[in-house]
Amino acid sequence: MTDVQTTPDSPAPTESIPVPGPMRLRDMREVIRNVPRYLTGLRDEHGPVVRVPMGKTDAFLISDFDVVQDVIIASSKRFDKDAQKVGPGPDDWGSSLERVLGKGLVTSVGTYHRRQRRLIQPVFHRRRIAGYGEAFATIADEASAGFQDGTRFNFHEAMYELALGMVTRTLFDVSLESEAADGIRRAFPREGGPLRWELSPFGKILLRLPLPANRQFKRGLKTVDEIVYGMIEERRKGPGDGDDLLSVLLTVTDADTGEHLTDQELRDEAITLLMAGHETSSGSLTWTYYLLGTHPEIREKLHAEIDEVLGDRLPTVEDLPRLKYTDAVYSEALRLFPPAWVLVRRALEDYAANGYHIPRNSVLMVSPYVLHRDRTWWPEPERFAPERFLADAEPDPANPLLGHARAAGRPKLAYLPFGAGPRQCIGNVFAQMEGVMALATLSRHWEFEPVGPAPDRVTSDFTLQPRGGLEVVAHRRR
Ligand code: HEM
Repeated sequence: MTDVQTTPDSPAPTESIPVPGPMRLRDMREVIRNVPRYLTGLRDEHGPVVRVPMGKTDAFLISDFDVVQDVIIASSKRFDKDAQKVGPGPDDWGSSLERVLGKGLVTSVGTYHRRQRRLIQPVFHRRRIAGYGEAFATIADEASAGFQDGTRFNFHEAMYELALGMVTRTLFDVSLESEAADGIRRAFPREGGPLRWELSPFGKILLRLPLPANRQFKRGLKTVDEIVYGMIEERRKGPGDGDDLLSVLLTVTDADTGEHLTDQELRDEAITLLMAGHETSSGSLTWTYYLLGTHPEIREKLHAEIDEVLGDRLPTVEDLPRLKYTDAVYSEALRLFPPAWVLVRRALEDYAANGYHIPRNSVLMVSPYVLHRDRTWWPEPERFAPERFLADAEPDPANPLLGHARAAGRPKLAYLPFGAGPRQCIGNVFAQMEGVMALATLSRHWEFEPVGPAPDRVTSDFTLQPRGGLEVVAHRRR
């Protein structure tokens, strides 16, 4: 990878960055169906930096790896995540999101974000997350016990419940039957609802109407707030030896000032982790099972590994190094369908890189979905081939894909389902462990046959999900 040239003598003017022509009917259809795929088409047609006119300002789709690395990591201080400040429409984007998440890690910016991140990062140490391994396997096993042979159902709903269960148990030590889980279901439905309406220009009108969904959102949010504040109070009064994430967050101390997180800060971070932690994981498990359901030969290999490593028992964290193929399946599904399919930044100042000039306040879009389909680094990019991620497999001239994702010399950011740099997913270890353990647990007994049309239409408001979910029929394997 070459060094990025961020201060060229004479940067090319913004106007020289390609802009797609007026939208054709088929472009509109693609935007309605599948925005990530539409953006991939723009990159293929117009190159690594494309200017996409959007409302008040322009957005730039950046797929030049050197520039991506500079924006996300090296020059990250010249960008922030608050792209909503320059978003389209009469109101700021994302105000519902901020109402929900407050100044938690996802929505906060600048020095405040840097401080919170520094304080909270140790809470996500691999050793602590490994302590949740048993919870991951137990919750997946409970879900597994609920499936019935030959039954058709919406698999995405089941994965939503599964991921919600994982995060409520690890964060608050409460179950899916708890009031907290119920408040979340009511306030933040899987599709639609005020939280997501905020992101669409028409949705803003809906937000002002006296609709039941608006009332439900407000009531749900109030309930969740009351519950979280109640839990904080309970833990403050308790012996302080809990090992759920909220209890650990309570012990966080700023080494410089000796300060702890305030109730408000704890509330914001807890709700942020709750939200960031279940929508992403439920999407990735759904996509993984869609891919397994349509690739029997890969499913067979997965089953062979799980049967050999686990036999009749549930997985533990100690099994993970031997569940290599399972890990590769999950990693490859995250490549093809990264739930956080676009990372959005706002340029705090004029920015020039590799001859491109991007004016202050522009929105930059770095899309893992698009980058994961770059033919230079991902041969046969649309092919589901978990063996790409098998690092120590013997080279096989007949299969050049084997291990190539782990080969030396590739740009680090060719694969970034969890982002990178100072805003990298704080839950990345949690998520990978949770995903692999869920996959191993569910696939011990079940395979799922997708039915109905392929999930060509996606929702991509916050995360990438098959629109309407995924209908499957469950088949008991053993
Ligand atoms: C498959 C599952 C997941 C995926 C694909 C994913 C992906 C991402 C990505 C790409 C970012 C960076 C966004 C950006 O740079 O703009 C991010 C941020 C974040 N994620 Fe995740 N995530 C997952 C699961 C989780 C889980 C389980 C948690 C918590 C338990 C979590 C908590 C967070 C938080 C708090 C941030 C904000 C970090 C910051 O800005 O400092 N995520 N996630």
